[in-house]
Amino acid sequence: MEKYYITTAIAYASAKPHIGNTYEIVLADAIARYKRLKGFDVYFQTGTDEHGEKIEQKAFAAGKTPQEYVDDISKEIQRIWDIMNTSYDKFVRTTDVNHKEIVARIFQKLYQQGDIYLDKYEGWYCTPCESFWTDTQLVDGKCPDCGREVEKKSEESYFFRMSKYQDRLMEYIETHPEFIQPEARKNEMINNFLKPGLQDLCVSRTSFDWGIRVPFNDKHIVYVWIDALTNYITNIGYDVDGGNETFKKWWPADLHLVGKDIIRFHTIYWPILLMALDLPLPKQVFGHPWLLMNSDKMSKSKGNIMYADDLVELFAVDAVRYYLLHEIPFASDGTISYELLIERINSDLANILGNLVNRTIAMAQKYFAGEVLNENVKESLDDEYLMMINTLETRVEKHMAKLEIGLAIDEIFDTLRASNKYIDETMPWALAKDENLKKRLATVLYYLLEGIRNSAIFLEPFLPETSEKIFKQLGTTNKNIGFLRDLSYKLMDPEPLFMRLDMNKMLEQIEKSKEN
Ligand code: MSP
Repeated sequence: MEKYYITTAIAYASAKPHIGNTYEIVLADAIARYKRLKGFDVYFQTGTDEHGEKIEQKAFAAGKTPQEYVDDISKEIQRIWDIMNTSYDKFVRTTDVNHKEIVARIFQKLYQQGDIYLDKYEGWYCTPCESFWTDTQLVDGKCPDCGREVEKKSEESYFFRMSKYQDRLMEYIETHPEFIQPEARKNEMINNFLKPGLQDLCVSRTSFDWGIRVPFNDKHIVYVWIDALTNYITNIGYDVDGGNETFKKWWPADLHLVGKDIIRFHTIYWPILLMALDLPLPKQVFGHPWLLMNSDKMSKSKGNIMYADDLVELFAVDAVRYYLLHEIPFASDGTISYELLIERINSDLANILGNLVNRTIAMAQKYFAGEVLNENVKESLDDEYLMMINTLETRVEKHMAKLEIGLAIDEIFDTLRASNKYIDETMPWALAKDENLKKRLATVLYYLLEGIRNSAIFLEPFLPETSEKIFKQLGTTNKNIGFLRDLSYKLMDPEPLFMRLDMNKMLEQIEKSKEN
């Protein structure tokens, strides 16, 4: 079986994640589930990034020790990942003893082989980003990443010789067009970072305590990004001697899924670190766009934050998953609002999907007491519909291969739309009036059930709970792909999958709940 190792970025254990931070785990989950469906041996890793000055400050402000603080937040993040029904295989934490020990050994190895050296640093420091900047990098005197105030700092630090690997990395990126995706992000990295030339990276801090200590100089804490990035290898059996069999099985990762803001860390610093460790590079780093709230960045101060758990309580998990997976474009930012969410639930989930399943099963119950066989009374108008069913797999794969999730979902919904159209064309209720057409009626319903069954197979990665409900109503566990000639359906009673929501009533309810 071909292996597939997929990771998300590990989330900062600094605050409860909002719906934007939750997008990535849902996206990764859809990809992981899809790969399992296609027969891959999948390993899906996520987790929390728990060290650093910002977290230390937050913990003290909350009257907790950093460890207590990250224990609570990490638990909360995992709870939300579970509410979203995500099927990760491992939830890692950078405070795990094993991870900390391996990071310390990696740091030592890189120091011993001369890739890391001690020097003095002077520059502008941004605490929230935990980054040093030079005069020319500042934008209007502020941090170029987050726009916040910076302070002048000078400290003794360890540095990583990035420049030594620059040409090798450039060549790798140029000869592996699939490595950085989407394409625009690759050009950004080449033009903004590699072409101007890489500076050596400051990889230790002395201004705070909460982190992994440099093993041979305990004044220093390992830079949080070195600590965080290595999670991708420390948790699958890597060690400085080369790692165990599990490591050899899973590494290199097939996909690092990360947000567009941290693509630089994953396509410049991380590959260089791996080159220094003499390890192969991940096959692909995909920088996904961001989810905005009414086209604005979500933030506590703007009061425009939505949380996944609240949304799931209001709309059910698959409605939220559907919105995230279908509405965020592949390469440009997406937006979320209650109105848009309700609109989508009504138009796609209730009308197209829910209605189709409900009326098909209701007709099969009414005309055949729920038992439907293929009577093979085929007509030429069926061909187009059968073709939709039989091409579904390749149509979905075409988009999934490029991680165009929204377009892959469109292919499934096109099949559902074709099913609704097929009902309008064949008019089962008219066939039911003529006893001589009973076998034709059974055939039509059988084709519809096959259309629904195949759609449910491919909905599983995106809407796992709904897919399961459909299979239950279909009364079958057969997940073989494509049109099957001789299933004997014994259906359950229809149960609505998604209710149509009254926009005004819902919005009123949401306003009220905000007041409480
Ligand atoms: N801890 C680092 C990642 C280290 S990976 C070795 C980090 N954490 S984060 O909590 O700030 O972000 C986690 C992920 O969520 C990142 O990939 C980030 O891009 C993503 N997102 C944060 N806000 C987002 C949206 N509003 N929309 C979509 N993704 C968002 O960065």
